[in-house]
Amino acid sequence: MTTDNWTEIEAAAKKCLPPDVVAFIESHQGMAHSESHLIATLHMIQATSGYLSKEQMDAVAQLAQIPLAKVTGVATFYHYFRLHPRGRHMINVCLGTACYVKGADKLSQRLMSDLGIQFGETTKDGMFSLESTRCLGTCGLAPVVMVDDQIHGPVSPSDIATILDKYTNKKKGPKAPPVSV
Ligand code: FES
Repeated sequence: MTTDNWTEIEAAAKKCLPPDVVAFIESHQGMAHSESHLIATLHMIQATSGYLSKEQMDAVAQLAQIPLAKVTGVATFYHYFRLHPRGRHMINVCLGTACYVKGADKLSQRLMSDLGIQFGETTKDGMFSLESTRCLGTCGLAPVVMVDDQIHGPVSPSDIATILDKYTNKKKGPKAPPVSV
């Protein structure tokens, strides 16, 4: 934004955000915009948009009259905020104790290598996002990988290509069954 006209800045910021978020920020105007208000604001945006874009974080900073560095600092500090769009399929590798001792780190390495991304990133084709998580409550199947809402386990590094293939091919053909549950 290259204007210093507040009316234009405010209008542009409001356009970037869902109306309920604008209303929430406005309802707290005049009060100190505490970190808990900021976190709630960012949650509301992510619930609607799926992630927090730079434009949205800038709009929050403008409307709430707080430094952009504070908004981005909170967004990057808490791992549950996503700064990039999610992929078509979300892969969660369980790094809980039972999964870890049964080789979750090797699964993680294999996934990162096969997908060409790190935790918190999305493949260039937008197909997969990779995240780690703590115990999914299925320790008996350790090590476990969850793709969308489907648990796969026990999974070995050599199973990864087959699992990824099934989800990649979902867009081309009928639904593939999970490898194992
Ligand atoms: S530790 Fe992975 S499911 Fe419990």
